[in-house]
Amino acid sequence: MNILLLGSGGREHAFAWKVKQSERCSELFIAPGNAGTASFGKNVAIAVTDFEAIKNFCITEKIEMVIVGPEDPLVLGIYDFFIIDKSLQHIIVIGPSAAGAQLEGSKAFSKRFMQRHNIPTAGYGEFNESNFDDGIKYLEQHSTPIVLKADGLAAGKGVVICENSAEAKEVFTAMIKDRQFGEASAKVVVEEFLQGIEVSVFVLTDGKNYKILGHAKDYKRIGEGDTGPNTGGMGCVSPVSFVDQVFMQKVEKTIIEPTIKGIHEEGLTYKGFVFFGLIKVNDEPYLIEYNCRMGDPETEVVIPKLKNDLVHLFVAMHKGDLQNQLIEIDERACCTVMAVSGGYPGEYRKNMSITGLNKIFGQKEMLIFHAGTKQNDDQIVTNGGRVLAVTCFGDNIKEAVTSSMEVLKNISFEGMYYRKDIGYEFD
Ligand code: AMP
Ligand code: GLY
Repeated sequence: MNILLLGSGGREHAFAWKVKQSERCSELFIAPGNAGTASFGKNVAIAVTDFEAIKNFCITEKIEMVIVGPEDPLVLGIYDFFIIDKSLQHIIVIGPSAAGAQLEGSKAFSKRFMQRHNIPTAGYGEFNESNFDDGIKYLEQHSTPIVLKADGLAAGKGVVICENSAEAKEVFTAMIKDRQFGEASAKVVVEEFLQGIEVSVFVLTDGKNYKILGHAKDYKRIGEGDTGPNTGGMGCVSPVSFVDQVFMQKVEKTIIEPTIKGIHEEGLTYKGFVFFGLIKVNDEPYLIEYNCRMGDPETEVVIPKLKNDLVHLFVAMHKGDLQNQLIEIDERACCTVMAVSGGYPGEYRKNMSITGLNKIFGQKEMLIFHAGTKQNDDQIVTNGGRVLAVTCFGDNIKEAVTSSMEVLKNISFEGMYYRKDIGYEFD
């Protein structure tokens, strides 16, 4: 089948690499893609939210499956756009409907959903202009630290952890009154701070059945030792030692099963990924957030570890045959380490030429996934904050991370930075 993949990050490069290995994939197109995805298919200059252009492309190129990488098109209703259009209805779209994508698109919606289905999560309040004063009182009475979240999508920047009540009131006011994150922060979820270790679990669902594809821990802070501002993710490891059978059983029973049952009971059309952002508090899993897509850079370890034919899984999911699929996961340790542009997550430069990619290619068992790159004549140049993710396997996390470090030593671009302590707790 002809497949269109939407997105342009490391996640999409990993998907392209995997999808192209499927016997079922004839032509692969990536919109808009990056310099890395171009090795596995044809990049097309269409924005992920330009539904009309996507429609025309799908018709012209006889696309039979659309894999949606990022959340924006899902929250904007790309699934529904395809379903209601007679010329597109036959195309399999991997991702939830707009209603299902609210699990990521609205923090208030997802918190209410968690409450309705008794899913363990942090206590919270929901505020906007109309109950602003109640919100201020809530903050004054609440213990700190306290977490403030813009309700809508804010490009990963809408969560602020406040150390004291004065700071919380300031941020709360900026979010609601000054629309710090635009309309996304017209409504704010105020949440109890949970202390623990985070891990994410990834599931594929048809809205009734589900399969766990893997788990990963990502390292969000820019600085070593988990310091400095949050980023989209500086690296990931999998497996995570505390995610043993006992913990996973708890996750399934208290979080995954009630979620899928809730999706089904509430009639949400959902044929795609659920990303469960979890935190282990003492020995119990709590749900911090849902995302309606795969994570980046989590995909760069979860997908290389997945042995199944991904396109086959998608087709089975679409046909309602997901429950009969046996998921096979590579048991080796896997990590990915992200090389970023100097200055990121603040301001950074683009168009820095990247050297060393050819030197190491094919020399060892490793995968270099491009995140923010583009081809400029015969040069590959940087085109984003996160530039490359280097994925390696090993007998243990330390070995995998050491291999990624060795690969990264061969690559350079002006201002390149990467964390050298990814997986540090698992030495
Ligand atoms: P998000 O943008 O929703 O992924 O949240 C960003 C990060 O904020 C999460 O990965 C956590 O590290 C942190 N966070 C969010 N909610 C909480 C909470 N209730 N307690 C502690 N940390 C949180
Ligand atoms: N790495 C976190 C995310 O994809 O949201």
